[in-house]
Amino acid sequence: MRHDDYVRTYAPRQDARPARSASVMPTAPRPAADIQAPAAIGLDAYRVTQEPYYRAVGDEVDLYEAAYSVRLPVMLKGPTGCGKTRFVEYMAWKLGKPLITVACNEDMTAADLVGRYLLDANGTRWQDGPLAMAARLGAICYLDEVVEARQDTTVAIHPLTDARRILPLEKKGEIIQAHPDFQVVISYNPGYQSLMKDLKQSTKQRFAALDFHYPEHEIEAEIVAHESGVGLDVAKNLVHIAERSRNLKGHGLDEGLSTRMLIYAASLIAQGVAPLGACRMALVRPITDDPDMRDALDAAVTTYF
Ligand SMILES: Nc1ncnc2c1ncn2[C@@H]1O[C@H](COP(=O)(O)OP(=O)(O)O)[C@@H](O)[C@H]1O
Ligand SMILES: [Mg+2]
Repeated sequence: MRHDDYVRTYAPRQDARPARSASVMPTAPRPAADIQAPAAIGLDAYRVTQEPYYRAVGDEVDLYEAAYSVRLPVMLKGPTGCGKTRFVEYMAWKLGKPLITVACNEDMTAADLVGRYLLDANGTRWQDGPLAMAARLGAICYLDEVVEARQDTTVAIHPLTDARRILPLEKKGEIIQAHPDFQVVISYNPGYQSLMKDLKQSTKQRFAALDFHYPEHEIEAEIVAHESGVGLDVAKNLVHIAERSRNLKGHGLDEGLSTRMLIYAASLIAQGVAPLGACRMALVRPITDDPDMRDALDAAVTTYF
């Protein structure tokens, strides 16, 4: 599997630690002295410098560009592992804008997004959260799996995602007027929604949305081959297996095999693991514990390998 060295994820939870600790998780190792609060690092650390491989499947690139040109907040909807994160990385690169990614979780508070006062040797100092930093300096702020965050956290993005484009920092007594380049993008898996975990209408209605699906057969095989290094024949067989699993969605499987999982299996095969073993390990075992479902998927695997 290839390494995505252009991906930088902001882990807001780590902010809760004292000021000297790292609050960014750069993929590439950096000298310790360079690991500081995000505001101190500046946006250069979040620039996507290498072109991410993204295979367009429809008109999503043009539509996103149009949305960005009028700074519409964008929601990417689709199952896990179908290319949403890769797409936003690609678009950030194409538009030449820094990308700050926040992996949302239910422990996240509004302060994790907006910022907080921290104690350090010199007393207290304010530290912008990822949302404040993106708004202040002009980045694309990508809230990944936004429904994982509690609704009272999500409302922090409201004033930034309507005509006001402001972010009140109540504790600090400051109102940030968003930089002209700033945009909010969220990702959302409609399959996981429940009454408890869904976006409020007042949140949904602030976004334009793009639907993502697993790519069509030939394109998905092309992606799997490109990302793993296996030949197109092997990749096509993997896609056949995935298509069978996707038909089992709602009939014993919560979700079918994703493109990401196919890339995992293909990467094992590229490492010399026998296809049968690779598929069991990377496709069948992770997705279900149900013995009947495992049998059904194993049967699909043996059909193609
Ligand atoms: N259209 C695509 N072009 C290039 N790579 C893709 C595409 N769709 C999926 N992928 C691959 O699948 C992997 C999983 O996609 P990702 O963007 O992480 O999924 P999501 O964010 O939807 O859960 C990516 O790392 C990438 O290798
Ligand atoms: Mg993602």
